[in-house]
Amino acid sequence: MVIKEARFLMSSQDADKCPKPTLPEYAFIGRSNVGKSSLINMLCRINKLAKTSSTPGKTQLINHFIINNSWYLVDLPGYGYARTSKVNREEFGMMTMKYLAQRENLLCLFILIDARHSPQESDLKFMRKMGEGQLPFVIVFTKADKVKPAALNSNLEKYKTRLLEEWESLPTIFVTSSEKEEGRDELLSFISDINDTWQPE
Ligand code: GTP
Ligand code: MG
Repeated sequence: MVIKEARFLMSSQDADKCPKPTLPEYAFIGRSNVGKSSLINMLCRINKLAKTSSTPGKTQLINHFIINNSWYLVDLPGYGYARTSKVNREEFGMMTMKYLAQRENLLCLFILIDARHSPQESDLKFMRKMGEGQLPFVIVFTKADKVKPAALNSNLEKYKTRLLEEWESLPTIFVTSSEKEEGRDELLSFISDINDTWQPE
């Protein structure tokens, strides 16, 4: 798929205030600083489309981007961001969880995982929740450029082994680097295939 146009549409504080669910939608989630906003910029090839920061907790609202006037990409706040107040954290959590539970046009959730780390309980717990809610998700490993190939492979294998301890089968897995544009074609063709199945009511 070729991205001819990508633009920021709106930020919402509440799932009920998001754009009308009339187009296929894909959302990016994961721990703070994992690279969600950077991945959106990489896919769209626009550097500052989604705001990024080296400080965790940059994205705090539900941000809709419209691509080729035909589908939405959504940048969500990260989970596990400790430096905000507990009340704030719970509010963001509730906003995101409500969005995930309600959004009828959300065709697939992309759960981003830093390729440098071993499996983290917060991510596994989040996947369990998505499984309970029957929301389709894939895993996207990020920052692949920051690990040597051998370490990357070993991390991926460890992750798969850990997942198979509690899941019957593995989800679709992508390996990406926003620095090197790795994984871009694969992600876009995955999205394009799902877009083709979308039937507006
Ligand atoms: P929050 O919105 O705070 O939850 O973070 P986020 O998940 O949106 O992360 P963001 O895209 O802002 O990136 C966090 C930091 O990681 C920034 O300094 C990025 O430049 C860096 N980063 C993101 N992706 C990559 C990558 O693929 N490779 C490298 N080397 N750095 C990356
Ligand atoms: Mg962000």
